[in-house]
Amino acid sequence: MHDPLTFSDWAGERRQRIESVLGRVLPGDDSAAPRLAQAMRYATLGGGKRVRPLLAYAASEINGADIDRVDACAAAVELVHAYSLVHDDLPCMDDDALRRGRPTCHIAFDVATALLAGDALQSLAFTVLAGVEDGGACALLADAAGHRGMAGGQQLDLDATGQTLDVEALTRMHSLKTGALIRAAVQLGARCGTALAAADAEALDRYANAAGLAFQVADDILDVAGSAATLGKTAGKDAVQRKATFVTLLGVTEAERHLRVLHDRAVAALAPFGSTGQRLRDIVDWIVLRSS
Ligand code: IPE
Ligand code: IPE
Ligand code: MG
Ligand code: MG
Ligand code: MG
Repeated sequence: MHDPLTFSDWAGERRQRIESVLGRVLPGDDSAAPRLAQAMRYATLGGGKRVRPLLAYAASEINGADIDRVDACAAAVELVHAYSLVHDDLPCMDDDALRRGRPTCHIAFDVATALLAGDALQSLAFTVLAGVEDGGACALLADAAGHRGMAGGQQLDLDATGQTLDVEALTRMHSLKTGALIRAAVQLGARCGTALAAADAEALDRYANAAGLAFQVADDILDVAGSAATLGKTAGKDAVQRKATFVTLLGVTEAERHLRVLHDRAVAALAPFGSTGQRLRDIVDWIVLRSS
């Protein structure tokens, strides 16, 4: 089946869709704790590229999933991601004041409220997912968010501050802190359609691993090459905070070269999927384009 929409139109349509799903599942002013509900909505709605939902929708296209079924998976991953950003920005972590072009959650509210908003966004992700998917889907997302995934990677990021990691250690850290949720988005989306043959599931995972790493390498490059106006977050902060990144290790030119290698690896992995992998291909193209 050929989808005649351009990538930009397709992504725009899916972004509108996830925005409305998120708006529906997030608590409103009738919540038992209205200030917490406001902080959760503030941190989640009205901004963000929605890369992870787009990946879930795109992955679901390779095996003909019903899009209504993908909504909960896409929303759950984005809720975990929104929580990770709220906590990442806290003064005890990256101490950031700007996110998605607005004051960070702890600045707009307060640190304690931001902490709770992150906690509650993570819980909500599992309420949403468990409402429609089985325990396997919940375990997959929990694993990606926890000590073997994003939270573990964030710990490695803190441990590496001021240190020089080698490419292998940096790859491990990026694969956990950012790659794990991206991989979960792809896997959850693909789970919504007919089961994949083992070789196809492996190929999809190779794509997700490469695309997830590429995404964080691009983020490292944008931290030095972008501006607050285009990024919607503070630029240049990795060097100031002595973070271990692909740019601090290799310099911009080599980091860009590494990004292209990861891009090509991701695209090559999509070979078995033919035209059904087009949106996944579009997304990894876009990840690279953003930082060039
Ligand atoms: C930022 O993620 C943090 C990383 C894992 C690199 P995004 O770049 O996806 O942030 P939003 O959701 O678009 O704001
Ligand atoms: C964040 O990485 C990864 C997360 C798990 C949130 P960064 O700290 O580089 O993300 P930004 O640059 O603040 O968005
Ligand atoms: Mg960080
Ligand atoms: Mg940060
Ligand atoms: Mg960054």
